[in-house]
Amino acid sequence: MCGIVAYIGNRPVVDILTDGLRRLEYRGYDSAGVALVGKNSLRLLRSVGKVKNLVDKINKDWPDHASICGAGIAHTRWATHGAPVEKNAHPHTDEKKNFAVVHNGIIENYAPLRENLIKKGHVFTSETDTEVIPHLIEECFEGDFIKAVTAALKQLDGTFGITVISPLFPDTMIVARRGSPIVIGVCENEAIVASDVSAIIAYTKQVIYLNDNDIAVVKADSIDLRNIDNVPVSREISHINWDTGAAEKGGYEHFMLKEIFEQPQAVANTLRGRLDENDATAVLNGLNLTPREIASVSRITIAACGTSLNAGMLGDYLFEDLADLPTEYEQAAEFRYRNPIIQPGSLIIAISQSGETADTLAAVREAKNKGASVVAICNVVGSTIARESGAGIYLHAGPEIGVASTKAFSCQVAALLMMALKFGRARRLSRQEGLDIIHELKRLPELIQEVLKTSRHIEKVAKKYSRAENFFFIGRGYMYPAALEGALKLKEISYVHAEGYHAAELKHGPIALLEEKVPVLALANDIPGKDKIIGNIQECRARKSPVIAISTTGDGEIKNHANDVIEVPRASIFLTPVLSVIAMQLLSYYVAKERGCSIDQPRNLAKSVTVE
Ligand code: AGP
Ligand code: GLU
Repeated sequence: MCGIVAYIGNRPVVDILTDGLRRLEYRGYDSAGVALVGKNSLRLLRSVGKVKNLVDKINKDWPDHASICGAGIAHTRWATHGAPVEKNAHPHTDEKKNFAVVHNGIIENYAPLRENLIKKGHVFTSETDTEVIPHLIEECFEGDFIKAVTAALKQLDGTFGITVISPLFPDTMIVARRGSPIVIGVCENEAIVASDVSAIIAYTKQVIYLNDNDIAVVKADSIDLRNIDNVPVSREISHINWDTGAAEKGGYEHFMLKEIFEQPQAVANTLRGRLDENDATAVLNGLNLTPREIASVSRITIAACGTSLNAGMLGDYLFEDLADLPTEYEQAAEFRYRNPIIQPGSLIIAISQSGETADTLAAVREAKNKGASVVAICNVVGSTIARESGAGIYLHAGPEIGVASTKAFSCQVAALLMMALKFGRARRLSRQEGLDIIHELKRLPELIQEVLKTSRHIEKVAKKYSRAENFFFIGRGYMYPAALEGALKLKEISYVHAEGYHAAELKHGPIALLEEKVPVLALANDIPGKDKIIGNIQECRARKSPVIAISTTGDGEIKNHANDVIEVPRASIFLTPVLSVIAMQLLSYYVAKERGCSIDQPRNLAKSVTVE
């Protein structure tokens, strides 16, 4: 959930750590801290709030920081155990200050461990689950750093990505993971470790992703990998093909706006090299499924969370319509706990931008344990879900930094449409039907560009409604998942209560809430079902709700029914939801901006939700 950065080498360590923290800040941001080790000395500083607060404190308390080289660890925290206050911020140490630890994840058995350690005389200073780790290491320590860390880790249940340093071993960092991501940047005579490559790429593009239960002993000139049973393991070095520029704002006021405007390019990257006009199908080699295997799939379940789940819902419609395959979508958290029925022919599709979402990962593991074929649709290359699924489609959308997912959604739908096309062609779609979808997909970047051109108008509409405290977003059929996604965007970044509802369901209860202060955004595009939604708009207006309609460019009729209209280009029913969602991303962005909200880092949210 949080961000970890660690460095060992001969350069001024504080700058490298704080620069890395700034790049990771989007992952979690209630507090931050840093620890440095020299021979027999450990320095520690922590502060609540943004990384800037920590930097101010460093400048004040460590005036010599620019001259300190060696090893250090740093952290931005997204609290799970204990309030976001200074004493709970990481790094945590044992009372002798022999070991300092930064941790991402949750130690599930921390309570009995803590009780036991207290009985043995350990003194705890925080409310975190994390603090048991340095105390346990200290308890297990008999002179061998690695043995002590390994023995401590063996006692932990739950998830962790950790880095440990010790003033007794100032030339060594120990790094380990189980369930939370850790990447090691491979450099010459120095090493940088982080929970996310964006903190590393300024220094090196060669990285090693740790697997679960890997432990790395990192020194400036060596990286020694073993597993928790002390058996040496080897992990290949991966090359990162994007640079720091891609992870910065590029002149936009917010990452979210930059990422909204990047969508034509991001979608083009998802589609690149994957549309085959000769066979009128999609080339998705990463699926690792032979045509015979595709033909033998009899049922699909899509598991995901949040925005990825809304994309998954569209996938449900796509697989049923294009491939005649019974498909269902499920919240990943439910999938795991519900006894999912896996039969021969079941295929599970996990969708996750980050590839680290704990509930989705748990669903992948559950499905694999039950013997299902699993494919993942992920953006982050090398992420845990991508690796554990072993097969899938990468989005290649570039890093998504804004907490609100935008470009990942469009790319996920493009990937699902390609997959449904491939399955459809193997089962029932004619060549011409396949070609029609390919041509439509090829137009998608250009169609998105058309929507983006209307951003000024959308901004005006947003300003008009920015003071409303309650909103409904309604849609039918393919536009129902779009309504859910529009509402999710608005509530997460502007803190306006917004409900996504099926337009026909409104009258079964929620219509009681409609009045003049409750605007309704109706997805009234010119696709099958439009007449019905116009009826639903009338129902809303009869209750005095102002209506914003998203409609198809040139559809004059809708102006007679709605107070305000936002137009998106005419497209097939498969892609109209994407275009409408992009219009709603802009609407939410401008509402949030008007309300002065923290758009890239909304309160209470983190980019990657690695806890259940
Ligand atoms: C989207 O705007 C949200 N911040 C959130 O719902 C997100 O989509 C969800 O947490 C799933 O993340 P993932 O795609 O990285 O798995
Ligand atoms: N569970 C730890 C805590 O609450 C780590 C949280 C995180 O991953 O940021 O401090």
